[in-house]
Amino acid sequence: MSHCIPLPSSPSLLLLFLLLVGLSAATRPPFACDPREKTTNDFPFCRETLPVAERVRDFIGRLTLQEKVKLLGNRAAAVPRLGIKGYEWWSEALHGVSDVGPGTKFGPFGGMFPGATSFPQVISTAASFNASLWEQIGRVVSDEARAMYNGGMAGLTFWSPNVNIFRDPRWGRGQETPGEDPVLASEYAVRYVRGLQENDGDRLKVAACCKHYTAYDLDDWKGVDRFHFNAQVSKQDMEDTFNVPFRECVLEGKVASVMCSFNQVNGIPTCADPKLLRDTIRGDWGLNGYIAADCDSVEVFYDNQHYTSTPEEAAASAIKAGLDMDCGSFLQNYTEKAIKRGILREGDVDGALVNTVTMQMRLGMFDGEPSTRRYGKLGPEDVCTPAHKELALEAARQGIVLLKNRKGSLPLSPHHHDTVAVIGPNSDVTVPMVGNYAGSACEYTSPLQGIGSYVRAIHRKGCKDVACTSDKLFGEAIEASRQADATVLVMGLDQSIEREWKDRTRLLLPGRQQELVSKVAMASKGPTVLVLMSGGPIDVSFAENDRHVAGIIWAGYPGQAGGSAIADVLFGTHNPGGNLPMTWYPEDYVSKLPMTKMAMRSNPSKSYPGRTYRFYNGPTVYPFGHGMSYSKFDHTIVAAPTIFAVPLAGFHHHGSNKTAISVGNKAVRVTHAKCNGLSIGLRVDVRNTGSRDGSHTLLVFSTPPGAGHWAPHKQLVAFKKVHVRAGSQERVEVNIPVCKYLSVVDKSGIRRISMGEHVLQIGNIRHSISLQAA
Ligand SMILES: *[C@@H]1O[C@H](CO)[C@@H](O)[C@H](O)[C@H]1NC(C)=O
Ligand SMILES: *[C@@H]1O[C@H](CO)[C@@H](O)[C@H](O)[C@H]1NC(C)=O
Ligand SMILES: *[C@@H]1O[C@H](CO)[C@@H](O)[C@H](O)[C@H]1NC(C)=O
Repeated sequence: MSHCIPLPSSPSLLLLFLLLVGLSAATRPPFACDPREKTTNDFPFCRETLPVAERVRDFIGRLTLQEKVKLLGNRAAAVPRLGIKGYEWWSEALHGVSDVGPGTKFGPFGGMFPGATSFPQVISTAASFNASLWEQIGRVVSDEARAMYNGGMAGLTFWSPNVNIFRDPRWGRGQETPGEDPVLASEYAVRYVRGLQENDGDRLKVAACCKHYTAYDLDDWKGVDRFHFNAQVSKQDMEDTFNVPFRECVLEGKVASVMCSFNQVNGIPTCADPKLLRDTIRGDWGLNGYIAADCDSVEVFYDNQHYTSTPEEAAASAIKAGLDMDCGSFLQNYTEKAIKRGILREGDVDGALVNTVTMQMRLGMFDGEPSTRRYGKLGPEDVCTPAHKELALEAARQGIVLLKNRKGSLPLSPHHHDTVAVIGPNSDVTVPMVGNYAGSACEYTSPLQGIGSYVRAIHRKGCKDVACTSDKLFGEAIEASRQADATVLVMGLDQSIEREWKDRTRLLLPGRQQELVSKVAMASKGPTVLVLMSGGPIDVSFAENDRHVAGIIWAGYPGQAGGSAIADVLFGTHNPGGNLPMTWYPEDYVSKLPMTKMAMRSNPSKSYPGRTYRFYNGPTVYPFGHGMSYSKFDHTIVAAPTIFAVPLAGFHHHGSNKTAISVGNKAVRVTHAKCNGLSIGLRVDVRNTGSRDGSHTLLVFSTPPGAGHWAPHKQLVAFKKVHVRAGSQERVEVNIPVCKYLSVVDKSGIRRISMGEHVLQIGNIRHSISLQAA
């Protein structure tokens, strides 16, 4: 692979340049146990033949207290006398290797690693509902990550993915998440983490991290910010919404790390709560890995939340709660003093180090020379490969959601529409397509470039930027649409509207965007298509209801190849198959509930509408799961039980007995059922009755007994993406794990399986299954 690097002109600069490029080309020296270092390569902790636990014990046993505390921060200090280099724990890979964390660097001046494949933002990738795609992206990202690690430009510990539930449509970081549904978010977490880590026994390719634990989904809304926010969360919502993706990430994804958040939950900072960390993550879920704090979280709960009166108490409470690693220097600065003051034991610090050092060993960091190891040969030629770039394009196509297609106006035909007006503040953008937590992309294709590869494009911005405060450029945009055979408006948001530290207060298109769309659509000679870029949902009911708007496409933040993918959908070389991973609410929804109210369930007596499709029953612009195709798909149930027996675990202590469980309770505690492998299998035929091949998402929702009362109206319990050729059909099998997904959570936070009729919704078919205790 060759890169064009502009050469500096002055000789001294050139020398510096060559030196830097030379440096970046060098491979990383071993982190520990360097075979060339005779005095430090023979410690027992360097011996691969010994069990990891023994090596970790040996290593920690050799450290002084001062050395130990310097390992508690993301910038872990070197221990030269033991041959240990410094290590930067903080790298990010949300949707491609990113340089948002200091552990990863691109360049310099191009260098060996000028960029990495920049996949669509997570909310878009989630919209594909394609679990194998998520895993495949993870594997590609970790190939590139390993390559950059080998080249000395990245770490091996990536603080991704973000699996918080997208609870409120205003959240600026909703774009980073897989959406509002716990089952979808769980499946995304598991598959992306599996792809990244490629767990091989105890060994990992890279270490992922599910963040931000927990109930963190507010950044800065009307003066309430994440550093000061105390999320009041019921046991019920915690168990059946906020914690679900984290639980699955640990249990099924075998993730290497969980990160606690900035906010408090019910008055306790998450990073200082032993119930959340030690009892739940380690105890109940059995995390085999380390718990990290979001950057400066410990400092924040001391400084901003005044949770403890001294910094030493803050450090002690975090470590005692189960925190192993601080992003920041707070623990490094105050832990030794906490021990001297007797509020923390050195053994507590050892416990934290066991978790972090074990992870480094599982990543091979104590195995000497990395280049001779598995993944050791990955290098610059493995980054931004044609196959990786193709996957970024494929992911962008799969994540695009067709929201409206009036009278089959789409796709456009390059023959009938050979001149297209391309309008809008997002019509020729590159960097905004990758959203936040991105790196430097390999290359970009803007929407204008993508459309321009099919037809002759007339480009007019219409608005200077997404804020669109002036109508000065409207005239020329309207004029272009009068002349062209079709008009594509690429509108929406970017990071100036929604981002980390910035939540929205409204759901409408910013500024005068709506006015531009309506005016252009009215004037346009041919069909007008609205393409939206955004992470969060937008109230575009004006366009949905406008007969001059022929089609609406949500492109999310589609990544480096976004423009090509948009054009492929517009011109029908890709048949769209994405579905919305979150509800699109009307604007007045947000006036009915402050962002600070965490409750998921509606409360009609307080006019509280509830949140997400599971609990909100009011009008929507587009519902969760909405997504059209250029084809039509029919479903037929081939096999599904109508009665399903839930075996109970039988007699158990406290004097209760089997009869008592089955007769006395309409809803059996999950802990009283024999859950292992208990699932309901469904077989469904999906027929493509249209004239184009296409992919379709089989979504299975369940409405449990008692729905709307303490249980969700409905809950996604299984989904599967299937490709079906025009005029043919495919048989799809899905399994619904009964204890996990057919259960509901009661007010005390206890998960129960309701006996009786569960109504499954499969496309437009309804099918009842009667659950009976056996
Ligand atoms: C920790 O100490 C270093 C060195 O004195 C200082 O630069 C840093 O700001 C301190 N960090 C915290 C969180 O107190
Ligand atoms: C089991 O529980 C039922 C209902 O509480 C009770 O009637 C029955 O006597 C119990 N049987 C035994 C063997 O304890
Ligand atoms: C899911 O994604 C993979 C990877 O791009 C692709 O090969 C497969 O066809 C997709 N599945 C469907 C049903 O579209």
